[in-house]
Amino acid sequence: MSNKQAQAPLKARKVSFAWEETPLHWIPGDPFTTHTINVLHLLLPAGERWFVHVYKQVLPYIKDERLRADVIGFIGQEAMHSQAHDEVLPHLREQGLDPTPYTAQVDWLFEKLLGDRTLPPGKAREWWLMERVATIAAIEHYTAFLGNWVLNADALDRRGADPTMLDLLRWHGAEEVEHRSVAFDLFLHVDGGYRRRVRTWAAAFGALVFLWQRGVRFFMANDPTLVGGSGKASVREFLAKGREGVLPTTGAMARSIPRYLSRAYHPSQEGSTRQALAYLAASPAALAAEAREQAPEVRAKGAA
Ligand SMILES: [Fe+2]
Ligand SMILES: [Fe+2]
Repeated sequence: MSNKQAQAPLKARKVSFAWEETPLHWIPGDPFTTHTINVLHLLLPAGERWFVHVYKQVLPYIKDERLRADVIGFIGQEAMHSQAHDEVLPHLREQGLDPTPYTAQVDWLFEKLLGDRTLPPGKAREWWLMERVATIAAIEHYTAFLGNWVLNADALDRRGADPTMLDLLRWHGAEEVEHRSVAFDLFLHVDGGYRRRVRTWAAAFGALVFLWQRGVRFFMANDPTLVGGSGKASVREFLAKGREGVLPTTGAMARSIPRYLSRAYHPSQEGSTRQALAYLAASPAALAAEAREQAPEVRAKGAA
């Protein structure tokens, strides 16, 4: 029996986060790393909504029941991730950092540039759908990479990073590791062309680097506590934070490129499902949501 068949079907887990206690610089004294990771809250709400939008259109192309069930589970998980990151934005606004000028651009990118376009049913529409399915597989290579990284980034704990933010990142990261094969398996099932894989990887990678550095610069320039040039973002700082273990290293990121472009690539070779599931079983936000769901039942039983 393959490893995949032995796994339970994917399901979305409810979570509940309380942001009131999370400081603006949730990695104490390190606004640069805080904001580099904060870019996730700018990109993921629109990005993951877009995944869901595209995948709903590809469902009729799936001829394998197990894969269909996984894609439906994936859709549920990504919808929940998108919402959880979206809920951080009002908290940033309350702390004087309004992300709207940046998120408006990201929304335009996913809804208009990467949207359905006005294509008639037929070859062109199908080409554009397959292009987007391959793009999602490439992005999921990086969400799994980051998920695996954050589950193992002990330096964040040592620096006293806010436990609620760490839980959001690790709950999300663990589900990314858990479902890391779905997007690639779907791409192989409906198309799988190697040239398409390379082309969409290049586009996705270039866009991610571009959007990320712009996002960090946006946050650093608009952080109300950083004045007089202290809010600069630099490549040198990025490299240094990688060496300290609070961001991924450039070496690890560079090595992930040939892995994705190798013809032997499969996401099951990346990260540990066992580690991901162990985190999900103990995630404070998942346990809080579970307790909240069970609370009315307990109260009802107590009253009876
Ligand atoms: Fe996600
Ligand atoms: Fe994902």
